[in-house]
Amino acid sequence: MFRGQRGPMKHYDAELHTRGESLYVDDVPEPSGMLHAVIYSSPIAHGRFDALQLDRALAADGVVDIITADDIPGENQVGPVVEDEPLLSEGELNFQGHPIAIVVAETHEDATHARGLIDAAFTEKEAVVTAREAHDRGDILGTPRTFAMGDVDDAFDDCDVVVEGRADCAGQEHLYLETQRARAVPTEGDRLRVYSSTQSPYAVQESAARVIGVAEHKVEVDVIRLGGAFGGKEDQATHWACMSALASELLDAPVQLVLHRVDDMKMTGKRHPYSADYKMGLDDDGNIVAYEVRHYQNAGAKTDLSLAVLERTLFHSTNAYYIPNVRAYAASCQTNIPPNTAFRGFGGPQGMFAIESALTDAAEELGISREEIQRNNLLDEGQSFPYGQRAERCRAQKTWDRADEAFDLDEMRANAEAFNEDHDDKKKGVAAMPVCFGISFTGTFLNQASALLHVYTDGSVSLSTGGVEMGQGVNSKLINIAARALGISTDRIKVETTNTTRIANMSPSAASATTDLNGGATILAAEELIGRFREMVAREMGIQDDENIEFDDEQVLYRGKETDWDWERVVEQAYLSRISLSAQAFYATPNIWFDKDDEEGRPFAYHVYGAAFFEVTVDTLRGTYDIEAARLAHDLGRTVNKLVDIGQIEGGLAQGIGWMTLEELAYGDDGELLSSALSTYKTPDGYFMPDELDVEWIEDENPEGPYGSKAVGEPPLMYGIGAYFAIRDAMRAFDADADFPFHAPLTPEKVLLQLHQSRLDDMLEAPVPDEESPESEVALAGE
Ligand code: MTE
Ligand code: HPA
Ligand code: MOS
Repeated sequence: MFRGQRGPMKHYDAELHTRGESLYVDDVPEPSGMLHAVIYSSPIAHGRFDALQLDRALAADGVVDIITADDIPGENQVGPVVEDEPLLSEGELNFQGHPIAIVVAETHEDATHARGLIDAAFTEKEAVVTAREAHDRGDILGTPRTFAMGDVDDAFDDCDVVVEGRADCAGQEHLYLETQRARAVPTEGDRLRVYSSTQSPYAVQESAARVIGVAEHKVEVDVIRLGGAFGGKEDQATHWACMSALASELLDAPVQLVLHRVDDMKMTGKRHPYSADYKMGLDDDGNIVAYEVRHYQNAGAKTDLSLAVLERTLFHSTNAYYIPNVRAYAASCQTNIPPNTAFRGFGGPQGMFAIESALTDAAEELGISREEIQRNNLLDEGQSFPYGQRAERCRAQKTWDRADEAFDLDEMRANAEAFNEDHDDKKKGVAAMPVCFGISFTGTFLNQASALLHVYTDGSVSLSTGGVEMGQGVNSKLINIAARALGISTDRIKVETTNTTRIANMSPSAASATTDLNGGATILAAEELIGRFREMVAREMGIQDDENIEFDDEQVLYRGKETDWDWERVVEQAYLSRISLSAQAFYATPNIWFDKDDEEGRPFAYHVYGAAFFEVTVDTLRGTYDIEAARLAHDLGRTVNKLVDIGQIEGGLAQGIGWMTLEELAYGDDGELLSSALSTYKTPDGYFMPDELDVEWIEDENPEGPYGSKAVGEPPLMYGIGAYFAIRDAMRAFDADADFPFHAPLTPEKVLLQLHQSRLDDMLEAPVPDEESPESEVALAGE
């Protein structure tokens, strides 16, 4: 058992999942008379609709009602940060899939059929789909931000090498297995209970109350678990929940809304595509002296969480490196694609992709390896990030060196070179990817949580927190934490659904901080209970030094020795003594702040570090590749559930590799999502994952996390960036001079085209055979 581990190392949902018994929103038995909603949305990316024709749809079988903006009793507004997002369009259309009306019918099929009968008059305007185009037009959301340290302009003058270029990375579809869905059920009066697949039950409560025009306490939101979210349900679950709540309120009936996969892919936002201009200056020894970057974020049509995502791009614009002179600019650019939103890494990955591209360019210019520059410039204890925070308990070098000891990067490099000497049709590539990711919501106020513990007289325990289980294992970790805090077996603890009536004003489960925040609150609630019990036992035992009483492994110990008190006796006695068996506690991350005027502060409780080494083989004839190995050292803290943490590392890595290699989101010039189904959007599968996936752990205690643990949800995604650079490294071995743009994802198709671009160009430039000439006839006849 690992030091921090208490109780069995497992994911407590695993048994239900494998038996197919876990409940999701639409698995809960249907209340009688439940209706089904389907969304009618914009077929154009930019313009207006007029003269909405609903008659044919209203007359269709099973249709109960069609709800439009005019029917909303409260406010038509669901923007989570900036109020720029009506729930239903009032005429203006800003993206394909922009919701216009809610069709409610007796069955999902009836509603879907009726939707096809709706028509309207559309006036189209030109659509803008790229961030740079929007930036040039001045279509910017919020105010562009700049983080700066040192003096880049002066520093560039003194550099031995300066490289400049451009790096682009595409968006990413969340592809949670469970599409967006919600069910609203009227209870009595104007009260509603909403079951939602959301990371943010309170956001649903707040927005639903606002849309319906009732006080927040009239709306109860309950979340059992999510079939995946990955940021896609941090605030974009709210819309669908509000629609079902609105329909339910207007029709006084339970209403369920389940998005079809294609609707989900078309209507919801994704990871933000970014385009960046970089400039990096180094000395001859490969020390990075100055870095300047301009990030253009493709926000989509509405603000959503884009400004917070943008800020995190800046926080992570220098990744795990110390650079004395930095200027990083970022602008959120408004386009006519669905509003992009939170996605694992929250802007961090895009910032890191740009700097990794810049230092790759610099390595080629200097004629040294990428990893030499990377290792040379890793952050050291006490060095400053470009936002003023200093690296504390810095493990950038430590994780890299641990990975190097275990996996020998030089040897990986030498093997690849030896292989490449002997092969032309295949080339091996190697790349390292260090990661440094800040833990805490960047909006400081969000770093708060509460927990409610009930102990029943049989000794069983009920735990409620604001943590939402989305597959990441927060419930399992909370069980381990509560068992440890109470000194009892994990078997006694049940984690309740996440419910706004038990836990008020909860922050979303996001920013990798759910266990830190809700686990922190759980420990405080448990300590409150244990304090009462300790006092009681001391009184009963007639001793004064109650500080020498401990609760461990179901027993009460006094001065380290067993007593005749165990958990069940304590609980029973507390009840008889009229001591409360319930406790509520509140946790707020201490010592974090950020000043946006100066762009300085200490926004993060701590950072998570790690380093991954990749080895790939590219088939230079076909452009296909194999990711053979990912070998990494990860800074885990003292884990409270190692199995869950391993799952997060492997899952995050897979998702990061997918983003960088296969997953290609394509939009047409008219703003249409071209990759709107799994036939056109390719994700990694088991075969695609590295054959060898080795993980080394650094298990140093983290004083800022519950029982010394560290957050794990997002950081491993960014290791996946290494796969991109390993593939590119193999391409370099094939062609030392070609111009390979930094443009993720690096799909096999792109690899093929880039490897053979010069030959393709030659072919295209060759004179076109003259149709009249006899040779060309011969050539054609000869085919
Ligand atoms: N893992 C699974 N299985 N499913 C998910 O939806 N979301 C990720 C990550 N890991 C996710 C996941 C994202 S975006 C975040 S922020 C964290 O989990 C949220 O949970 P945590 O705060 O408990 O780490
Ligand atoms: N991460 C995720 N979600 C957020 C954050 C963050 O840093 N800030 C606000 N919402
Ligand atoms: Mo995660 S992107 O913070 O939900």
